[in-house]
Amino acid sequence: MDRHLSLSQAARLIGVKRGDIQKKIQENKLTVMEGTVVLSDLKKAFPEASYEDNTMLEKMEKFMQDAVHKMAQSERDGAQVDALSRRLVKINKELAIERNRAYHMEELIDGMKQKFIDLSANPNQENAYNELKQWFHTATSIWEEEKFTTPVEQLENQIEQFMLPHIRLLPSRHDYVSSKSETLLESALRSGLAVDYGCNNGKCGKCKAKLLTGQVEKTGHQDFVFSESEKSQGYILTCSNTAKTDITLETEEAVSVDDIPLQTITTKVKEIERLNEHVIILTLKTPRSQRLRFLAGQHIELFLDNHLQDNNQPINAEYSIASCPCNANILEFHIPVKEDERFAKVIMQDLKQNESITLNGPHGNFVLDEDSPNSLIFIAWDTGFSPIKSLIEHAMSLDHADTIHLYWMTTKVENHYMHNLCRSWNDALDNFTYTRIMCEAKTDVVADSLLQHLHNEHNHLLNFDLYIAAPGHLNHLLKPLLTSHGVKGQNMHFESTFHGDDIID
Ligand code: FES
Repeated sequence: MDRHLSLSQAARLIGVKRGDIQKKIQENKLTVMEGTVVLSDLKKAFPEASYEDNTMLEKMEKFMQDAVHKMAQSERDGAQVDALSRRLVKINKELAIERNRAYHMEELIDGMKQKFIDLSANPNQENAYNELKQWFHTATSIWEEEKFTTPVEQLENQIEQFMLPHIRLLPSRHDYVSSKSETLLESALRSGLAVDYGCNNGKCGKCKAKLLTGQVEKTGHQDFVFSESEKSQGYILTCSNTAKTDITLETEEAVSVDDIPLQTITTKVKEIERLNEHVIILTLKTPRSQRLRFLAGQHIELFLDNHLQDNNQPINAEYSIASCPCNANILEFHIPVKEDERFAKVIMQDLKQNESITLNGPHGNFVLDEDSPNSLIFIAWDTGFSPIKSLIEHAMSLDHADTIHLYWMTTKVENHYMHNLCRSWNDALDNFTYTRIMCEAKTDVVADSLLQHLHNEHNHLLNFDLYIAAPGHLNHLLKPLLTSHGVKGQNMHFESTFHGDDIID
């Protein structure tokens, strides 16, 4: 390896003045690079010079050898660091899995205790045993389905997110990221934004937006024809383009329920899951080209197309949508099972996978106030958790609030039918807390119990928006009580069409 020497080192090595070396450089007889000369060039420029005093040269040789040795050592160390960090990631993941398994074990043991108490009190032992078997199967199968994300994987995800093109929508100033594999429309919907669209395949033009900055790539077929004026202003279809760079788009977004049109969509039953004796989870799938536009917290009318009433009309009922608008072609409903409800009975006994159910709506104004800077408190009674779940998932996808608190109230431990989901939010998100409350189903008892919790856990309620899905007479009682605790009228939001177990007045 040829050695680089500073001018002073070179002068000392060959016993000449520094000025002599500079002179050779000016005469173009010696090349200087970044203030250094190369030893072989120096020998050519000063062939008569004496190199007998090799002290400096030896020192240089030793320095270079040390440096080479250190580089090799550093590579070996680097390989060890790599191996160690891979091992650390693996251990981290195993730890997360084991922690989760331990948590589920605790849950299972608690549940088993309760089930044995119920079993011993139930006169029909065979039914009770079958129910216990089914419950055990569901409780343990959840473990297999869950995905774990270690802190290192979370960091990798964050870096990946950072590298993806960022999209800014005007005038709302909403931001989201878009991967290369999804259209601008798909990523906006996934991010929970209520942008306008229709066919999702380049025909209707409803998804058009004005490209203000950045570059896009056309990826989909497009039948819709822009006018010359629209072309010159840079309009594009968000359903047929992906982002090549960070971009800014001008587009309309639904900001209130008035911006959402009434829609009629025929869906297919994707899944019917009986969670326990009083709740069924019904999951519907819309056609890919006709997803439901709705705001989180809204409800919709469902028509069982193949199951008719006496007047030959399909059996129908209205339920809150429990899923997030960010997944607008998979819709979830929590159907309370009641003796006298024909709709729930058909779902439970007769409805099959892939049958058609027609939706009409959405309705209701129990939606998130996106302009409010306040933190959020969600309060659900029993299956009132359904619209609350939609609101929470929406608030999370928009990263809307500094803190989110959920109070889920019911009479029995098993009525918290998505307790694991709430616990996982609580564990995974720094800004989310979950409190489950069990109390007697009497209006004043429920109100007292809730206020006690709010009082213990918050100094005041001035900077909170409260969203409450509970029976009407509980809402009536809570309103003045919350006002006396400092909550302003505009910060209280009540779901008025609650389906579920009534609380005794
Ligand atoms: S949604 Fe119809 S053209 Fe894009």
